[in-house]
Amino acid sequence: MRACGMDFGTSNSAVSLPVSAGGVTLAACEDNHGTLPTALFYPATAAANTPPLVGRQAQKLFFEGEEGRFMRSLKRLLGTSLMTQNTVVNGKPRGFDRIIGDFMQHLKSKAETAAGSTLDAVVIGRPVHFVDGDSAGDSAAERQLAAIAKGCGFKECTFEFEPIAAAFAHERRVEEEKLALVIDIGGGTSDFTVIKICADYSRKKERREDILASHGIRTGGNDFDKQLSLAAFMPLLGYRGSYGDKNLAVPLAPFHDMSEWSKINFLYTPHMRREIADILKASHAPEKLARFAAILEHETGHKLLGTVEDTKIALTAAAQTEAPLDFIERGLCAPVSRGDFNRAIGADMDDILNCMSACLADAQIGAGDIDIVILTGGPTETPLLQEAVRAHFPAAQISEDERMASVAIGLGHAAARRFL
Ligand SMILES: Nc1ncnc2c1ncn2[C@@H]1O[C@H](COP(=O)(O)OP(=O)(O)OP(=O)(O)O)[C@@H](O)[C@H]1O
Ligand SMILES: [Mg+2]
Repeated sequence: MRACGMDFGTSNSAVSLPVSAGGVTLAACEDNHGTLPTALFYPATAAANTPPLVGRQAQKLFFEGEEGRFMRSLKRLLGTSLMTQNTVVNGKPRGFDRIIGDFMQHLKSKAETAAGSTLDAVVIGRPVHFVDGDSAGDSAAERQLAAIAKGCGFKECTFEFEPIAAAFAHERRVEEEKLALVIDIGGGTSDFTVIKICADYSRKKERREDILASHGIRTGGNDFDKQLSLAAFMPLLGYRGSYGDKNLAVPLAPFHDMSEWSKINFLYTPHMRREIADILKASHAPEKLARFAAILEHETGHKLLGTVEDTKIALTAAAQTEAPLDFIERGLCAPVSRGDFNRAIGADMDDILNCMSACLADAQIGAGDIDIVILTGGPTETPLLQEAVRAHFPAAQISEDERMASVAIGLGHAAARRFL
């Protein structure tokens, strides 16, 4: 049986292959890149049933203004009622399961090219919770993903928690047993696992006894984008404004939806354009709300949220930055400081750190018992989180190797153990 590991991430995905001598490699899934942005673009001009463009290529075409339907953050839909609905792609209904299937098919075929053979089995990573506080939603999400994998031609499909996979990737270098806390913060979720790791243990078929606790919440880097958007960008577009003689509040929901990757497309309706146009006539800050109307008209919401995300990432290295918004209005820009960003994500960060504490409590250990903290996922670079982790575990070793790939690599190790 030929098997692979697949990290279907909210923002980035990767697929890995066990190789000889117990090693694992990432398959090149777009040119020479080992990771692929989880993004699809269905060009309006393509014939029906043509596979969509994916990854960087999808982003490039969409941001260059090519007509078509662009999608990101699809993982957020798993386990929700939206998965059973169709969406309109270039005038034709298409189920979200087929759309995720289009993406998975791409990963599978890239992995098969790298392996030089077809693949029949896959270990797919899953967050500790796809949907907060909804175990039925969690199992629905797994069932949906498994059905999609089968539809792509995998005969066998099993799952592994993403933070546990990250621990598998790291433990190869650990000679004696250590107690590790894995902190996996991705685009959509923050997951924590306390696990005993050791190079020798990677030979064990069953690891249940080594896992002391796993906790997770549905808060991640996409939520940081949302908070930063609402704090520093949406106010420039009329957010929290008022209109009319009675000083009515401009509805908040469209601004919230404009700040969420998975909801932007739903704003581009005649109804929404009309609603904003009507409010604009009586707005007390028409110059601002007109910018929101322009984004609806030109469908530049993803471009705006992309700018918000770039600003967030820039604030990892810089204390202050200025986001260019010329595509909305010539000369418009949003000055943002790291302090603004830290304040915006304060409540999300509290939730993340509370989840970490709950995980340690569930494992019945204190912070001082942790030997190694393994950081994985893009948002673990966030200075506020880095500071909190270093303050919480002053004596622990902090390991940040393969931040963007350790989940996929660990899933490859799990695939080797289960199927080869
Ligand atoms: N330097 C950085 N500072 C802060 N955030 C970053 C940085 N680089 C990337 N990110 C954020 O990391 C997130 C993507 O991380 P990653 O690829 O690990 O997530 P994912 O695996 O797709 O998501 P999940 O595991 O939740 O399904 C995005 O929100 C991105 O904006
Ligand atoms: Mg991830």
